Amino acid sequence: MRRFALAIALGLVAMAAGAEVPLPNISVDKSTKCVAPPEVMRRTHMQMLLHRRDRTVHLGIRGGDEALTRCISCHASKTTGAAVGAPDAFCQSCHDYVGVKLDCFDCHQGRPGAAAKVSARQP
Ligand code: HEC
Ligand code: HEC
Ligand code: HEC
Repeated sequence: MRRFALAIALGLVAMAAGAEVPLPNISVDKSTKCVAPPEVMRRTHMQMLLHRRDRTVHLGIRGGDEALTRCISCHASKTTGAAVGAPDAFCQSCHDYVGVKLDCFDCHQGRPGAAAKVSARQP
């Protein structure tokens, strides 16, 4: 059932993207560039983040383009300063829209520059 709902959600995202119908408040500062083209990011950001987490936890690799803190530094809202925690925040608005829960920020900071809620090697 969850898979089915996700398939529908992804279909909606694909349709919205294809038809150039704007998604709920995906407002991004276009003077910067994402770590990959937007159509790639839409499809693969989840694997990218989860893969990255494994590499950090198991291999100790940190920093660089795929760090979650980097995503947040670019995708935090200009008004609230955060990428989650408000219906119009970048990560959250799309996730609310497609119905995919985003629980990462129970531990990780959703705003740039804030002190980490988690310390190294204590998952
Ligand atoms: C240097 C700034 C920067 C960083 C770092 C960055 N992004 Fe982006 N991101 C952007 C910009 C700008 C766009 C819009 C690109 C466009 O539409 O041409 C974008 C687009 C996206 C999109 C597609 C949104 C849509 O239009 O549907 C997703 C998803 C995304 N980013 C997730 C991430 C994730 C996850 C990370 C960290 C792994 C990340 N971004 C890191 C700047 C950044
Ligand atoms: C229970 C707490 C917890 C939750 C929930 C959690 N993480 Fe983490 N995460 C950690 C810890 C601890 C580390 C290791 C930090 C370090 O060693 O630098 C980590 C590391 C990471 C890293 C690598 C470091 C970085 O900034 O790039 C990524 C990426 C990451 N997590 C993504 C996620 C994503 C995506 C989710 C949601 C699906 C998530 N995490 C949920 C605790 C958590
Ligand atoms: C354009 C819409 C969109 C944006 C923007 C977006 N996401 Fe996603 N995200 C999705 C969809 C759709 C899925 C579900 C894909 C699947 O499970 O097959 C997903 C899945 C994920 C997952 C995996 C969740 C799980 O339980 O497996 C993580 C982690 C994630 N997104 C993090 C982020 C972060 C962090 C940001 C902001 C930097 C972000 N997303 C922005 C649409 C988006």
